[in-house]
Amino acid sequence: MGREAASAFARWFVLERFPVRVELVAVCDLQDALLDWFRQIPTVRLFTKDHRELLASPDVDVVYVAVPHHLHESIYLEVLAAGKDLLAEKPFGIDLAAARRIRDAAATSGRFVRCSSEFPFLPGAQRVIDVARSGKLGRLLEVHSCFWHASDLDPSKPVNWKRQVKYCGEIGVMGDLGLHVAHIPLRLGWNPARVYSQLQKVYTERPDGKGGFAACDTWDNAQLHCDLEVSGSTVPMRLEMKRLAPGATNTWWVEVLGTEGGARYSTAEPKTLWTFERQKEQRWIRVDLGFQTPFPTITGGIFEPGFPDCFLQMWAAYAAERDGALDGRFGCVTPDEAVRSHELFAAGLESHRTRAAVAV
Ligand SMILES: NC(=O)c1ccc[n+]([C@@H]2O[C@H](COP(=O)([O-])OP(=O)(O)OC[C@H]3O[C@@H](n4cnc5c(N)ncnc54)[C@H](O)[C@@H]3O)[C@@H](O)[C@H]2O)c1
Repeated sequence: MGREAASAFARWFVLERFPVRVELVAVCDLQDALLDWFRQIPTVRLFTKDHRELLASPDVDVVYVAVPHHLHESIYLEVLAAGKDLLAEKPFGIDLAAARRIRDAAATSGRFVRCSSEFPFLPGAQRVIDVARSGKLGRLLEVHSCFWHASDLDPSKPVNWKRQVKYCGEIGVMGDLGLHVAHIPLRLGWNPARVYSQLQKVYTERPDGKGGFAACDTWDNAQLHCDLEVSGSTVPMRLEMKRLAPGATNTWWVEVLGTEGGARYSTAEPKTLWTFERQKEQRWIRVDLGFQTPFPTITGGIFEPGFPDCFLQMWAAYAAERDGALDGRFGCVTPDEAVRSHELFAAGLESHRTRAAVAV
């Protein structure tokens, strides 16, 4: 993900009339090969394997930290102690207690801190948000927010740190994919009152890449069935985080249904927005979207956006908000929202243990 961030900064000039300039000046990684990759970027002045050296650099204003989850809390706290602003990768710490400590340290430090979640910055996702905020849904019926992967269906895929609790956390797939599905609902004020979870662990070991096998002890799939209390009614919301979703390569999708209107968007069909209208006849309308990103770029309006584009847009939202120039646009995940997502994941673990709904 560090290289994805470098890619976003390297084409910052595509943003039109953007108030902030961004320059990648320092990189840190433990691997020589990765540090060497960054040497092709002319603005980088510091290459180091010691993040403390990077944090000591007066040239650095903002730090993006994309490391395994067991390192999040300690490095995030060091970033804040060094007086730098932070774009944290998700999850916001390895568990709820860590998330609360990071949020509290962020508040005390006064630094600008946000957490990563890029898919809401796609044009289709923005349109779903617009529909949800339009007041034209009628009575809210249900909400689905889902993120599906499939490569773990292959049992010969070697283990990595994301499949092991000691590095990824007990929340497993919820820590990996959960903030991506919680961002829009939480920003829209759809804050679950109760959670009933279904967690699945299907593959318990995987090849270790050295001829043997290693334990694979994280949750593969998680479904959080949530109750929202909206205008005096209890409304179901399902949050799905899956590493075992047949056929899905990074498919993020969101659907909002009401009695009068609705909207649905999936990265599986990146140009397609579906909206629902109930008039004399009921109809789902398919719109072929273009490049209507929140922050305009030089890319023509008919072209289709993808992952690198929403990642750039997320960074633009971070930089704009930090500069006081978000101007009402959708912003990156706040520390409070990140903590709230952890409260949902902790409730998910508790619900699975007790096989009962848990108040959040
Ligand atoms: N926003 C997204 O869409 C998205 C996608 C994938 C991963 N992520 C998140 O990004 C983070 C990293 O995931 P990844 O897929 O890039 O993992 P990765 O394993 O590919 O990369 C992690 C990097 O951290 C380096 N590293 C480990 N310890 C370090 C230390 N002490 N100092 C400096 N560097 C260190 C490793 O050498 C490695 O290059 C995780 O939090 C993950 O959840 C976000």
